[in-house]
Amino acid sequence: MSNEETSIKPWGGRFSEATDAFVERFTASVTFDQRLYHHDINGSLAHAAMLAKVGVLSDDELQQIQSGLEAIRKEIETGNFNWSVSLEDVHMNIEARLTDKIGITGKKLHTGRSRNDQVATDIRLYLRDEIGVIVGELTRLQSGLIDLATREADTIMPGFTHLQTAQPVTFGHHILAWNEMLERDFGRLQDCATRLNQCPLGAAALAGTTYPIDRHYSAQLLGFDGPTENSLDSVSDRDFAIEFAAAASLIMTHLSRFSEELVLWTSSQFNFVNLPDRFCTGSSIMPQKKNPDVPELIRGKVGRVNGHLFSLLTLMKSQPLAYNKDNQEDKEPLFDIIDTLRDSLKAYADMAPAITVNAEVTREAALRGFSTATDLADYLVRKGLPFRDAHEVVGKSVAFGIKEGRDLSQLSLAELQQFSTLIDEDVFDVLTLEGSVNARNHIGGTAPAQVKAAAQRAAEKLAQRS
Ligand code: ARG
Repeated sequence: MSNEETSIKPWGGRFSEATDAFVERFTASVTFDQRLYHHDINGSLAHAAMLAKVGVLSDDELQQIQSGLEAIRKEIETGNFNWSVSLEDVHMNIEARLTDKIGITGKKLHTGRSRNDQVATDIRLYLRDEIGVIVGELTRLQSGLIDLATREADTIMPGFTHLQTAQPVTFGHHILAWNEMLERDFGRLQDCATRLNQCPLGAAALAGTTYPIDRHYSAQLLGFDGPTENSLDSVSDRDFAIEFAAAASLIMTHLSRFSEELVLWTSSQFNFVNLPDRFCTGSSIMPQKKNPDVPELIRGKVGRVNGHLFSLLTLMKSQPLAYNKDNQEDKEPLFDIIDTLRDSLKAYADMAPAITVNAEVTREAALRGFSTATDLADYLVRKGLPFRDAHEVVGKSVAFGIKEGRDLSQLSLAELQQFSTLIDEDVFDVLTLEGSVNARNHIGGTAPAQVKAAAQRAAEKLAQRS
């Protein structure tokens, strides 16, 4: 290989032979990091403006760099940019093209900068924007859930523990439980966006730079809260990506829980809810099938997001300071997490408002399984029986009901009185489903009035977001 070919590399000066063709392909990241082009250009614009401010570039040079970079942005956006693997990554592709276009001034852009602080800046800028989009979808989903909960605040369904009928709850209450998970997820994304909002530009390769740079200025131009404190940490830190991945894993975990419930609830055995046809698919062999593919797929996609979280943790583990090429491996997992999370939230945000409840079925289901047994025990306690004795009385009543094939509310007063003489006519007020849910009338309880108030508070919180 000739020196001529070697010198094509922006860093080729000290090399005496060309890069091995396989190594070139193996070490390049441009096939995937080109997705950072928009933020790379924005980072370069801020860096150049800062260099001009401190007198390292002239105003004329800055102007040439600005128009050159904007022209490149257009070339990329219109599909007229020729990405080259031999230029390794998005940064060197854009820089080389800038020099093609504006000549020697293009070579001055990288003054006082390294790809190490450049890429650390790009990913933060990119992730910050993507978190904004993800929060938008999350908010849309929460808003749909809050509406659904309000609509179904009076609808009764069985509440489960161990997936066994436990006590009656309202459907709206159940849906607001999902909303609480997402509300915490929002908080985690916000924390992550706040913590990542520090600008690494100026850290250069690892130690800072000898130019009289103004790090506050470039940070401010890019909308960061300020410059990062330590140059070594700036080029090596990927905590923000890991933190985002962890928040994403948890969101996907929550979506997998909703998905599991929707899959169960749409089955003919449960038949609690319907999903519109547009979110389902059929079977190529069984004509009767309507499969809840969207929730199923989202349940399955948790695997890849959890896997990516682990990739990121593992790539950072034991890395010595400062930048190491290992960090190039942060991008594909991060990008895939973003795509997966955004799509999954979009699917849920579209689907949630379209869920309809089969209220007759959920009510019937709540009547099976002795869901008001605890209410009978509480009734006996109010009549003076210690709770453990009340538990015993109700256990015997349930055993009788099972033998008879009837719910507690379907037993006669005389039948109930066999187990305790404290039981009176008023027992039927607490044994009904409505009596049971209405009695749980405190903050966080399942009473319809509480659910409506909780939905209202949740909607007010959402409204404060934008
Ligand atoms: N493509 C590289 C990455 O993603 C950019 C930084 C390269 N820096 C270096 N010193 N080789 O991490």
